[in-house]
Order: sequence, then C-alpha cells, then structure tokens
Amino acid sequence: MEELSFCNKRLVEILVDNQWMYNFQVTRFFIEEPWKSLPPEWREDLLNLTTEELNSLPFGYVQDDWTESLRKYISSATELVLPRNLSEEIQPCTLTSELKRGMNPKKQHEVRHMAALVSDIATKTGCDVVIDVGSGLGYLGHVLSTVYGLKVIGLESKSTHTSGADKRLFSENNENIMNVTFEMNDSEDSLSNFNTLISSCLEKFKKAEREKVPDDGNLSSSWSEVHSLNSAVRNSNENGNGADVTGIGVENSELDTCLLIGLHCCGDLTPAMLRMYLEVTFVKGLCCVSCCYHRMTKHGSKYTHFPMSRDTEATLSKFDLRPTIPFLRLAAQETRARWKTLSEDSHQSHTNAVAYRALLELCAYKENTECNKLFRRIATAKDFADFESYVDKILSRCEFTSRQGKESIKDKLNLLYEEYKGKFPYIEVITVLQVILQPLIERLIIQDRVLWLLENGQNAYLMPVFDDAISPRNIAVCSMKIN
Ligand SMILES: C[S@@+](CC[C@H](N)C(=O)[O-])C[C@H]1O[C@@H](n2cnc3c(N)ncnc32)[C@H](O)[C@@H]1O
Repeated sequence: MEELSFCNKRLVEILVDNQWMYNFQVTRFFIEEPWKSLPPEWREDLLNLTTEELNSLPFGYVQDDWTESLRKYISSATELVLPRNLSEEIQPCTLTSELKRGMNPKKQHEVRHMAALVSDIATKTGCDVVIDVGSGLGYLGHVLSTVYGLKVIGLESKSTHTSGADKRLFSENNENIMNVTFEMNDSEDSLSNFNTLISSCLEKFKKAEREKVPDDGNLSSSWSEVHSLNSAVRNSNENGNGADVTGIGVENSELDTCLLIGLHCCGDLTPAMLRMYLEVTFVKGLCCVSCCYHRMTKHGSKYTHFPMSRDTEATLSKFDLRPTIPFLRLAAQETRARWKTLSEDSHQSHTNAVAYRALLELCAYKENTECNKLFRRIATAKDFADFESYVDKILSRCEFTSRQGKESIKDKLNLLYEEYKGKFPYIEVITVLQVILQPLIERLIIQDRVLWLLENGQNAYLMPVFDDAISPRNIAVCSMKIN
C-alpha cells in the first residue's frame, strides 16, 4: 500500500505541474492557445522532430542536446508508466466459429484473454458462477460457459442488449447462462436488489443441477455433472473430510459463491461493482476492466467516485489537483502503443482534423454564433484532406445562428486559416505531450481503486489482460477473498 501511495504522489506531482498540456478541450485549441504555455526552450526541440522521433517520445526517447527540462519531463513521466505487457501465465482460449458469431476481431481478442483470466480467478477462488456486469450482448459469458464450463449471470442495464444476448443463445438453449436486465449503482436499494436477484439465480442453477442428477446415482458424461463432480472433489479435498465426491447428495456449495466481472464497465459502473464486491459476502472474486472514466458522475465541482480512496483524496488535495473532464477523457484515450506506429500521413490527418474543427470553433466563438449540425455526422475522414473541402462540407451540413450569410462565414474561416496555419505544427507537439501523460492519469485512477480495496481490507492487484494496441483499456483490477 505504501508503494502505491508513494507512486500516486509522484504521478500527481507531475500531473499538477503540467496541467496546461491537457486541461483544455481539443476543439478549443485556438481559443485556449495551449502552445503559449510550452516552455520556449522546448519549442525548437519539439517542432523539429522526425516522425520516428515523434513516435518514440512516449517511450522515453530523448536526445543529449535537448534542453534539460524537456529531457527530465520525458524521462520522469515515462518511468511512471504501468507495464502493460501480457502475462504468459494466462493463455487465451480459442474460439469456435459459433462462439465468434457477431464479434469483430477486437472483441474476439478481448473475450479470449478475459475469459482465460476469469477462469483462472474462478479456479483460485473455487467459484463456479460468474456475474458479468454490463454484459452487453453476452459474448464473454457465452465463452465462459462454453469453453470453461462456468455458470454465468449476465447483468445488463439495457433490455435490448439482454434480449440480444438471449437471441444469440437461442439455438443452444443454454441453461448455464441467465441474462437479466438490471442497472447496478452504489445505492442501498441496488445492493439489496442485487442480493435478491443473484440469490434467486443461484437457486435456479442449483435446482437445474439437482434435476440433472440421475435417479440411480450413476454419473452421465454431460459437462455439468462432470463439473459438479470436480467441485465436489475440490470441496472434499479442501475440507479434508473425504466426503461424498460423487457430487450426489452434496449441496452444490460452489454454486453459492460467485465472481463479479466486467469487461469495459464505463463511468460509475466500476466503482459500483467495487462496492458490491466489498459488501456482498457470496461474491468471492473480482475481475474488472473499466473504460470511459470521463463518464463518471460529477456533483458540483467533485466527482462522486474519483478519488475513491482516502489516500488519493489526501494526495490530490495536498497538491491541489482537481480532476476535470479533459483530465479523465485523456485517461480514456488510446495508449502510446498505437502512437508508436503512426505514419507521417496519419499525423497530418490528425493535425488537419484537430485544426479544422478548432478553426470552426474559433470562428463561431469570435462571431458570437453557434454552428448547429443538420446531420449527425458532418464530416468524414476524406473531408479533412484540405481546408476548402472541409469548409464546403461544413457550410452544406450546418446552420449558423447569426444572421450573416454562409459566404461571409466562409470568408472569415479562410482568414482564420491564414492567420493560424503557422500554429498547426503545435498540434502534434501538444498531442505527444498528452500521449506521454495518458498512462499516468489512467494509472492514478486505477491505482486509486486498488488503494480503496486495500483500505477496506481486501487484497487487490492489477493485471494487463489485452494487447493495448488492439484494445487500449486493457488493465483489469482483480481481487480474491481467500480466507
Ligand atoms: C462498453 S459496454 C461493454 C459490453 C460488454 N461487456 C462487452 O464487452 O461486449 C458497457 C455495457 O454496460 C452496460 N451498462 C452501463 N451501465 C450499467 C449499469 N449501471 N448496470 C448494468 N449495465 C450497465 C451498457 O448498457 C453496456 O452494454
């Protein structure tokens, strides 16, 4: 705990000193003018990088002749990056074409790795039931049940997803999976409903197991009976009583304990799960990968669930670091893994996309007008190829609230382009400084959750579970209640 606390202090120190790098909305780039905060002595070094050098900065690349404060910033920030390489102990499973149905390659990667990790924790905690919170279309649960023989309760707030998950399983009539529409939060009501709901699901699983036991006591070769047998063997070994190992006449005790898991639990969902894990005695293990930190609820100037731990609260307050939306949004961005391989063209496309949107925002700001979209999407990647195409697209797909005609807006946008094009190179410079800080903010948030579990008497550890070039939110918070 002390190590984590010390690490969080170092993270906060560096984040507080460099707030100008991230504390602005990207679309307000030319309004907030973050490049004005760039130390003058860093400018030349950063504006003259080759693509390869630019891509290597988040991995600690520096040159001896660079200004010392820049070298120090890069090396001290990159030293604090949490390792994200996958453990060789957890081998991903393979998926049949039936299991792959509906999953894109990214989802397949996530599910193969996450299912293996969950199965490992299930074995270590002796749980046969997994509660998948925010289960979506039930891909993970399907694999956990089919490949690892676990029973799965999928909890999902959107009924369309729950029914979608059921539809996927329909052909199988899989009685080891229950998909339930349930919205989890950290209220007392949610806790009590969760207890009642899960108890009733466990009863159903047990009843189904009992009904499967043949009258003559002979074991058939169906998986669930084999699994009951495995459970009973584990029980008897652990109890050392050599009791009935056939699974017959033994209560399915492992159907009384569960793991709480979540794959990409957004916003407040992870903090709610952590509280459930702590409060509910029949939940024996946790494995949760979060996403969308910026969707956490804010009350007044404070986030309800960040920080969670007393330790991080004290550190943030000591250094007066106040989490903002851009701060949390940056934590939820891609990691440096994808940045590493960007081509010169990709950097140019990114520059154009940021610059053109920011010029539109600046124009609306200066002209005291609003630019309302007439369509959900106003520009696609190809519209950012040059400013003229972008402006034409915007004018045909947006409406401005001011009285001036579109031609006048077009002239003003073109004038702004001329005025600000010299600042475009700062976009990748500020972006790379953000890419360097992204893993630090994310680490602070995740470690805060670990610290909260530790402060509340649980063990907890972090486990990189996906390749972050494929799936950037790749760190699972895990815990096991092992007596
Ligand atoms: C990013 S999706 C992940 C879905 C799924 N785990 C997967 O990886 O395919 C998050 C899911 O959580 C659900 N969700 C969000 N908040 C929830 C809550 N409070 N309780 C239950 N489900 C929730 C959403 O409806 C959505 O399906």
